[in-house]
Amino acid sequence: MRCMSDDHTRVQEFFTTRAADWDRRFPDDGPAYAAAVTELGLREGDRVLDAGCGTGRALPPLRAAVGASGAVLGADLTPAMLEAAVRAGRHRDGRLLLADVAALPLRSGSLDAVFGAGLISHLPRPEADLRELARVVRPGGTLALFHPIGRAALAARHGRRITADDLRAEANLRPLLAGCGWRMTSYVDEDTRYLALAVREA
Ligand SMILES: C[S@@+](CC[C@H](N)C(=O)[O-])C[C@H]1O[C@@H](n2cnc3c(N)ncnc32)[C@H](O)[C@@H]1O
Repeated sequence: MRCMSDDHTRVQEFFTTRAADWDRRFPDDGPAYAAAVTELGLREGDRVLDAGCGTGRALPPLRAAVGASGAVLGADLTPAMLEAAVRAGRHRDGRLLLADVAALPLRSGSLDAVFGAGLISHLPRPEADLRELARVVRPGGTLALFHPIGRAALAARHGRRITADDLRAEANLRPLLAGCGWRMTSYVDEDTRYLALAVREA
């Protein structure tokens, strides 16, 4: 991995302190992850990346969707999150990569889909990062940006309000994606889930 920016160091510090308890804090999210993975439209044998995979909560449903002949990769910047993924046995569902989504060790067009849960608001340079995700996905491939609760519910959890400049807002995300090689095809932001889907443009 290339040398760390201050932003990346902050992300690592933030998630390192939370890694051991991450799954215990959110024990009931499994069905929501499985439902979101379904929306990616994966088929047997597909190749999919969980970008910012953390403790790998999405890896089992991703593996179930692509089967034994598919490829599941999980990339994360924070070693402690990947270590927690291994302790949870999720390395059996996907290959774990210590990697920055801004510089993935993957060939262009080599994936069918990317799943990113809770990722986008942690990216210091979302345009560059979304472009890198577009680089590794084939034309027609899909992207899911997911969170198990919506923006308002998440802001309330942190004692904040959503603001107009939130890049996950539809009015901001649609043009952001369009400028990075993605066409947004669906957007849901409700208390029980946030899910934006996009297709890789040719
Ligand atoms: C909110 S957590 C979500 C983890 C997991 N996707 C989940 O849903 O449980 C965000 C994760 O993104 C990772 N992350 C943040 N920025 C990243 C980057 N530039 N490249 C790779 N991973 C990153 C963090 O280390 C953290 O594990």
